[in-house]
Amino acid sequence: MLPIFIVFEGVDGSGKSTQLHLLHKYLTDKKIATYTTREPGGTPVGEKIRELLLDPAFSEMQERTEALLYVAARAQLVAQVIRPRLEQGDVVLCDRYIDSTVAYQGYGRGMNVDFLVNINKLGTGGLQPQLTILLDISPEEGLARSRQERPADRLEKESLAFYQRVRQGYLDLTKKNRSDYLVLDARLPLEELHRIICDTVGGMVGV
Ligand code: TYD
Repeated sequence: MLPIFIVFEGVDGSGKSTQLHLLHKYLTDKKIATYTTREPGGTPVGEKIRELLLDPAFSEMQERTEALLYVAARAQLVAQVIRPRLEQGDVVLCDRYIDSTVAYQGYGRGMNVDFLVNINKLGTGGLQPQLTILLDISPEEGLARSRQERPADRLEKESLAFYQRVRQGYLDLTKKNRSDYLVLDARLPLEELHRIICDTVGGMVGV
């Protein structure tokens, strides 16, 4: 089996983390070696960077600083975890990847997308997922879900308009390279989403 790297994307509260963990369980039950990680974070260095990024106290953080910190955490994760795991034959599932930077920093904050794509290439050596699963939901519904669960982090203090741009960013990305994406309506029942995801990924890993 070729190395398989699968990314979950979506606005906050889209339910992607839940679906990712259900997929992890499905694959491991089928005896497929699977490693799950998340961004920003996933390594000790990355988790420290995550604390900086999500701390609501740092309202002065500049957008370039923010973008470079996301890429720094990603560079560490790719080198320390994702590449070695893929090389040993694991299926790697990651909660967010480069598309999050394009959607949030590019579309959300209005940063130059080519600049963001370039720093990501430098940071990751060009590693791309075989499949990105986008759980699409309106920010109104997504944020309402995530705010029920815990207090807002620094990013979640952004306006609704910011999240609408983020959503549009994701949808634009999927249009450019349709075959690399599975776009799902995140309002579908949890079991139905899980079944569709298992069908698609099952076909890729041969279960
Ligand atoms: P997290 O608590 O992991 O959110 P979620 O559970 O929704 O994934 O926080 C990650 C936050 O960082 C989230 O608001 C999205 C944002 N983010 C970016 O702005 N750019 C990025 O490149 C990444 C990876 C995340």
